[in-house]
Amino acid sequence: MTSFDPQRVRTDIPLMRRVINGRPITYLDSGASSLTPRTVIEAMDRYYENHHANVHRGVYQTANEATAIYEGAREAAARFLNATGGSEEIVFTKNATESFNLLARSWGAKFLSHGDVVLVSEMEHHANIVPWFQLRDSHGVDVRFIPVSDDYRLDLSNIDELMRGVKLVSVTGMSNVLGTINPIRELADMAHAHGALIAVDGAQSVAHLPTDLVDLDVDFMAFSAHKMLGPTGLGIFWTRAEIMEAMPPFLGGGGMIKDVSLDGYTPASGPTRFEAGTPPIAQTAGFSAAVTYIEGLGMDNIAAYEKELTGDALTRLALEFSGRVRVIGPADTLDRGGVISLDVDGVHPHDVAQVLDQFGVCVRPGHHCAKPLMRRFGLAATARASFGPYSLVSDTDVLLEALGHAVKMFG
Ligand SMILES: Cc1ncc(COP(=O)(O)O)c(C=O)c1O
Repeated sequence: MTSFDPQRVRTDIPLMRRVINGRPITYLDSGASSLTPRTVIEAMDRYYENHHANVHRGVYQTANEATAIYEGAREAAARFLNATGGSEEIVFTKNATESFNLLARSWGAKFLSHGDVVLVSEMEHHANIVPWFQLRDSHGVDVRFIPVSDDYRLDLSNIDELMRGVKLVSVTGMSNVLGTINPIRELADMAHAHGALIAVDGAQSVAHLPTDLVDLDVDFMAFSAHKMLGPTGLGIFWTRAEIMEAMPPFLGGGGMIKDVSLDGYTPASGPTRFEAGTPPIAQTAGFSAAVTYIEGLGMDNIAAYEKELTGDALTRLALEFSGRVRVIGPADTLDRGGVISLDVDGVHPHDVAQVLDQFGVCVRPGHHCAKPLMRRFGLAATARASFGPYSLVSDTDVLLEALGHAVKMFG
């Protein structure tokens, strides 16, 4: 039985006590990074106070405890994703970005060659574009884009043509600019029917929607702990064990080898092969606590609640700012998450964000590392508000109040 009360979530988050410019903080930047529950902070404190040691190398008690914490987080990640292959399919990286670099530089460099196509979409974050361009430069692969329609969805009308020659489809589960939730299972079926594999950028989706790898039937998944109530400095890369076994190491050094001699090295098997050097250990303690915290709330509950919040915000923005503020993203909550990008007529997003800051409202102005998407809609930037499980309708009240001032001030 799960219970979900956003007010309780709020009281679990120390940063919610902050006062900004004389107003209680209105945190609407969860798309960039989520706020951290006390249990996550305490798990990391406990690790440093009681168990800190390097992992995998010691034989003494605290080193074994640290290793158990680190390996336990792999199990938490596998459980969170419903990865039936278990913890052996989880690699810890620095962030979602590094997970994509691992995919491109390891799997991509080995299995893709000149003329092979990687199909991404026009709504991708740079993390799922630039590594493929780098592979284009080094290996001659082609990078092709699924276009985005005028109603902010993937335009799949020409998908059979786009799939020709594709070896890998790599798309986001949820756009960090539009909020659009993509039909991953449908894309996975199409990719597999064309003999391609599929990777999902779960950076936004895993924190706001249930993620079940069995249902999705994808081949790779990448995301960051810091967008799902966990700490910074930890990313997750998942792939099926048989694919992982065929992937060469990406970074070399300590911790990732089975043997080294004057002639060369043999990599370790399993995920540690990709974890060169001392990994982010304390962060894995925090990550496990974040997974436990989310499980306590229930991901279905989070998704349903954030849908309500988003629907309310979209309706009120349309009513109160019609003609002055354009939402760059789907107008209703069908297959849409709580990321709301705003284009305020005649006002630069940085100015909007600065006025909002005077009200204690935290939103993010900029291109959101999605420049091809910005170009698609003729924009340089938006001001983006994004919800988390601790957001309230009263946050939208303050957002609209502050937005009203911005519009008046520059109107
Ligand atoms: C959709 C998406 N993909 C990838 C990333 C990159 O995440 P990170 O900066 O944690 O590597 C982000 C971060 O904003 C994102 O929103």
